Amino acid sequence: MKFTKLLCAAAAAVCLIIPSVSNALEKGDKILIAYFSHTNNTERLAEDLVKGLTDYDVTLTKIVSVDPYAEDMEKMSPRVKDEQENDTLIPIALSNYVPNLKDFDAVLVGTPIWFNHAPAPVKSFLNAYPVGQEQKLAVFITSGTSEPDVILSDIEKYSTHKVDAYMQYRPGHESGMVRGERYSIFIDDINAL
Ligand SMILES: Cc1cc2nc3c(=O)[nH]c(=O)nc-3n(C[C@H](O)[C@H](O)[C@H](O)COP(=O)(O)O)c2cc1C
Repeated sequence: MKFTKLLCAAAAAVCLIIPSVSNALEKGDKILIAYFSHTNNTERLAEDLVKGLTDYDVTLTKIVSVDPYAEDMEKMSPRVKDEQENDTLIPIALSNYVPNLKDFDAVLVGTPIWFNHAPAPVKSFLNAYPVGQEQKLAVFITSGTSEPDVILSDIEKYSTHKVDAYMQYRPGHESGMVRGERYSIFIDDINAL
């Protein structure tokens, strides 16, 4: 009799444990999409992601440098290189107020590649808003032809969190179809986070 009771208790405990073993995001979970964009490629991708993530409670925010970068590539390059060489973190603002990053189940960070690295505003965001180990971190990158390995290691270094999923889109270097495929695979990856 005692043994039967024990078995029932064990079965009930397993039933209680199993739902919490599943890691995937669930309908209604909160996702923060925070992106930096200078020439709007990453911004367009961020806006597309909002359209693809309708099952979730999504907050979209742009990361802005308080001291704006010059529009012109030649004028901005010395500043960007200097920030990279000196590992400079800079004052940033968010277009949409995020009182508590801990409220989110997943954080999606959007970034261009600048001289192979993450731009200072992205590093500064990751430093100012640390992603918790219990949260998921996904990254979407737009770039020219560079590979993503350096920027991904920048992101892992400044967030002290592993990148759980990422996609890269190279506007002007890839057809829309490649973007479409990558985009839908990324949405699937986010659903499985
Ligand atoms: C200062 C600067 C440096 C860049 N360096 C690289 C690079 O090293 N590798 C690369 O693939 N693309 C590079 N690019 C291209 C951008 O990553 C690409 O155009 C990206 O989509 C821009 O995103 P945005 O429009 O959201 O700002 C650079 C662009 C700028 C402005």
